[in-house]
Amino acid sequence: MRRTTSSSLGGLRAALVRVAAAATTPLLPDDYLDLVAPLRRGTHRARLLAVVPETSSSATLVLRPSAGWTAHAPGQNVRLGVDVDGVRLWRSYSLTSPVRPDGSITVTVSVVPDGAVSTHLVRAAEVGDIVELEGPDGDFVLSSPLPQRALFVTAGSGITPVIGMLRASLAGLDDVVVVHSARTADDVLFGRELRAWASDGRIRLVERHTAADGRLTTDELEQLVPDLADRETWACGPNGLVDAVVGLFEDRGWSHRLHVERFRPVAAVLGEGGSVTFARTGATVDADGSRPLLVEGEDAGVLLRSGCRMGICYGCVVPLEEGAVRDVRDGAITVAAPGDGVLIQTCINAPAGPCVIDA
Ligand code: FES
Repeated sequence: MRRTTSSSLGGLRAALVRVAAAATTPLLPDDYLDLVAPLRRGTHRARLLAVVPETSSSATLVLRPSAGWTAHAPGQNVRLGVDVDGVRLWRSYSLTSPVRPDGSITVTVSVVPDGAVSTHLVRAAEVGDIVELEGPDGDFVLSSPLPQRALFVTAGSGITPVIGMLRASLAGLDDVVVVHSARTADDVLFGRELRAWASDGRIRLVERHTAADGRLTTDELEQLVPDLADRETWACGPNGLVDAVVGLFEDRGWSHRLHVERFRPVAAVLGEGGSVTFARTGATVDADGSRPLLVEGEDAGVLLRSGCRMGICYGCVVPLEEGAVRDVRDGAITVAAPGDGVLIQTCINAPAGPCVIDA
């Protein structure tokens, strides 16, 4: 009797894949699998289960991730990739709930001016849509053990990671103050939920409506929260707010108790090529967008790791620190804001605007 070993099974599987590939050419077997099982294990996608309006310009997306989704810590974010007018665009969004009993997750998206992805997700996305999903990522999370006294200072969409933390952990937090700024009362994301917690005595909520009252100052913050010195603090929102809180905590010597997350505007300029800066060497080249970054770098004397040079081995992966690149195989655009460090393959990506590569 012949024994079937794991290596012969592997060989058989490989042979079947080759036969399937030959039979389905020019498409690959995975292309057909994507039609019938787009969320199978090993893929990084999600199906849109629901779009729940939050305010006039924001909505919560309920997503079912691919099989094997890694549980996230409340406060972390994911990257969503969506196709808008034939171009794949990526943006990061905070997770706004723990993994739900049915395995779904949520992100809450607010429309930003000229924001192609946010506008698409809030106004045009439909139940059943499949989006690319990467992550979770980020260290803007609750400390362990949970603090005895917590303060959350947020503005606008800065409440999104915080609502994820509160939904997951409010039962374990004894003393919570939330100071949140929004243009008007109607613009307060999750306003009903926050106010319900406040009326139940589970949090102390301070709403600042900036259209009437102007922006919160750090002097006002100290008056609103007299025991600021004793509170573990999380601040999230536009740079102006976060910078002010960081400055206050530095001045007082409390920085070790402050956790911050900034909203970074994605200001990538899309085009056919652009200046490519290789950050480690300091070299900058002007590229017309017709050649991969690997080739541009080599011609400029920048030593870049590589292998197959055709997008297969991942031997050329480097962080895209900032800017936009285009996958020369399918035109997919990858955009990174400063500090994102999105990983890209230099052998199959060409500049699609000014960009900075960590190489
Ligand atoms: S060199 Fe192999 S994937 Fe780029």
